Amino acid sequence: MTNANSSAQRTLILVKPDGVRRGLVGEVIARVERKGYKISALRMLSADKSMLETHYAEHKGKPFYEPLMEFMLSGPIVAMIAEGERVIEGFRSLAGATDPTVAAPGSIRGDLARDQGTRVVQNIVHGSDSPESAEREIKIFFPNN
Ligand code: RTP
Ligand code: MG
Repeated sequence: MTNANSSAQRTLILVKPDGVRRGLVGEVIARVERKGYKISALRMLSADKSMLETHYAEHKGKPFYEPLMEFMLSGPIVAMIAEGERVIEGFRSLAGATDPTVAAPGSIRGDLARDQGTRVVQNIVHGSDSPESAEREIKIFFPNN
C-alpha cells in the first residue's frame, strides 16, 4: 500500500457468478471507483472447491453452506482488491444488506438484485467483513499480493 495512514485498509471484493452472468462486472467496478477507492488487483477465475472451503470456512455446517458452494462454483467470478481509508466498512455499505429484497435502494444489492427463489441468496458481490478476514481472503485469491 502506498499510503501509510493507520485507517488505510484493503478489502477483498468478489463479483459472484450471478453478477458475472448478468454482465454487472463493469457496474460493480464503476461504483467502487466512483466512491473513490483504488482497485489494486483484479482477476477473473473459476473458483475451485478448496478455495471456497477456505473462503467460507465460517459458514461450514450452516443450512445454506452446500447451496452456497454450488452457486459459487456455477460460473466464473471476478476477484479484486480495493484499497482506501475504511474501505472494508465502505464497501459493505456500497454492497448493502445480505438479503437483496431489503437491501437499501442505492446499494449494489438493493438496486441490482432480488430474491430469485433459490436455495441460497444470490446477491452479486462479496466484501470482507474485518481486517483479519480481508487479509485471509486476499491470500486465497491473490497469493502474491
Ligand atoms: P458476503 O460474505 O458474501 O459478503 O455476504 P454477507 O457477509 O453479507 O453474508 P454472510 O452472512 O457472510 O453470508 C455469505 C453468503 O452466503 C449466502 N447466504 N445465504 N439464509 C441464506 O440463504 C443465506 N445466508 C447467507 C449469501 O450469498 C451471502 O452473501
Ligand atoms: Mg460475509
